[in-house]
Amino acid sequence: MPVTTDVNSIPFSATPFSATLRASTRTVHERANHSAYMNALLGNELTLAGYTQLAIQYYFIYQAIEEVSDTMAGDGTGREFVFDELRRLPKLETDLAFLVGPDWRETIRPLAATGSYVRRIHEASVWAGDYVAHHYTRYLGDIAGGRVIRRLLATNYGVIDEGALFYRFDEIGSAPAFRDRYRAKLDAAPWNETDRARVVDETLIAFECNVAVFAELADGMHRYQAA
Ligand code: HEM
Repeated sequence: MPVTTDVNSIPFSATPFSATLRASTRTVHERANHSAYMNALLGNELTLAGYTQLAIQYYFIYQAIEEVSDTMAGDGTGREFVFDELRRLPKLETDLAFLVGPDWRETIRPLAATGSYVRRIHEASVWAGDYVAHHYTRYLGDIAGGRVIRRLLATNYGVIDEGALFYRFDEIGSAPAFRDRYRAKLDAAPWNETDRARVVDETLIAFECNVAVFAELADGMHRYQAA
């Protein structure tokens, strides 16, 4: 009798999926974190306009993710990862009105790397697991690493409220508690090992999309060198 393998019958590894995901992205996280653009921003080498270039790209990225969130509200698994309290687009709109000016909507443009990232978000996110990959990469990163940029905006440029609202997550309450709830959802999602591997792969792609945006920002950052 031929032996067939039903992936659903393979026992899940004892490691919680949230821990696997975190461990799988550790190396690319380091690269994103220490990209030339991030190094320059965190090393106080850029003007506020240099930071604004990043906020502009975030606008297009979050527009894409939050559009997909709207459609995921109707998906059994996806809806577990739709959090109105996380939405960044309204914050970015206020930040950009402050950072760019009242005509910001007419003047901002996505970089080529941002355009590719946005396309990937839309194309990949027909399956909830791939949507979660993109969601996890941005929001958990912003909640954790975003604190560093929030501090930088306050100390270097005196930007505390408008201009830095993107980094305020008041609506989620305690950040560590939120992160724990999020990890519990990752662990409880109805994904077999094959699905989980696919989520990891798409998360790595999401990180690479961010690395590509940082690389393109680095190409133009000579225009924003602080004196
Ligand atoms: C300013 C540069 C960055 C700093 C300082 C930073 C720092 C951190 C820190 C301190 C954590 C918490 C780690 C822990 O739970 O022990 C974290 C988590 C995370 N970061 Fe970053 N990060 C940065 C950039 C990024 C970027 C560019 C991305 C991707 C777009 C990213 C994605 C993530 C994700 C997804 C997590 C959650 C890991 C998990 O708990 O599963 N980070 N980051």
